[in-house]
Amino acid sequence: MTQAPLRVRTPRFVQLQQDNPAAVRAELAAGLQASAAFTQPKYLYDALGSRLFEAITELPEYYPTRTEASIFAQHASEMAALLSVGLTLVDLGAGNCEKAARLFEVLRPARYVAVDISVAFLQGALQRLQRQHPALDMVGVGLDFSAHLTLPLAAGEGQRLLFYPGSSIGNFTPAQALVFLRQAHQAAQGGGLLVGVDLVKPVGVLVPAYDDALGVTAAFNRNMLLHLNHLLGSDFDVAQWRHRALYSTRHARIEMHLDAVQDVSVRWPGAQRHFRPGESIHTENSYKYTPPQFEALLRAAGFSQVNQWRDAQDWFAVFLART
Ligand code: AVI
Repeated sequence: MTQAPLRVRTPRFVQLQQDNPAAVRAELAAGLQASAAFTQPKYLYDALGSRLFEAITELPEYYPTRTEASIFAQHASEMAALLSVGLTLVDLGAGNCEKAARLFEVLRPARYVAVDISVAFLQGALQRLQRQHPALDMVGVGLDFSAHLTLPLAAGEGQRLLFYPGSSIGNFTPAQALVFLRQAHQAAQGGGLLVGVDLVKPVGVLVPAYDDALGVTAAFNRNMLLHLNHLLGSDFDVAQWRHRALYSTRHARIEMHLDAVQDVSVRWPGAQRHFRPGESIHTENSYKYTPPQFEALLRAAGFSQVNQWRDAQDWFAVFLART
């Protein structure tokens, strides 16, 4: 008797439209010329910035990554029990795909869709993962979902579980988060959203997480200036800028800034800006929520069934929201 040959799957890749360089330059220039200069947090992530962020997740002060991992390690089967098997698992901001891959065994998805700003980031990771999970249908999607979350047809029909770990939702303002959650509700196609959320906690824990003793977060923040030089053609000198992180109780957010340590003139094609000593560029917000606040946001976005799991210190929460 001859056996049917085993079908060897290979991941498929789709790149949706990327910001064009002129639009990126215009956005950056507008932010730098605003009276309170700012940049979008996505510009923290060039190749070096992504590696520095990975290093941040290993710092003793940066509790979110390991706290979230401990919640999944303890409660993933309870989460899976609330979901049907055979869903499409959509990993938003997949990067090296490691966090989602840890859930394959318990969630048993039929398809894995890894989404990141550029498919180039996903190629190696998905190819490796496909060898370990030959039967799983895998799709890599290049998409800047922070601007708009609409998945391509290649993400398939049927229920989807959107996976958005790491408290990246905190890098949106609450108003932007609500827009994003509404889009996620729509994109889930009757499935759900599994999302990691960093919680309000004492300032003495929060600030060191964003201003660590080794200076890795400072390097991550200052590296953005090198990325801007590349994207905008500016002449930022990293040595003239200092990292600052603060917690605003009023906004329940960590703010990251780069402060000019002296008079600084920055030039780029077609424009320039002078910064006085102490004048800053606001580079990131990281909002913290209380569990009821975040649950209210999920319900306002249209999710009707909401479950949550927290660590023993109530520092971090994972929400499973179903449509
Ligand atoms: C990616 N994001 C959830 C991180 C955070 O905690 O807001 C980015 C980060 N910024 C400084 N440290 C980490």
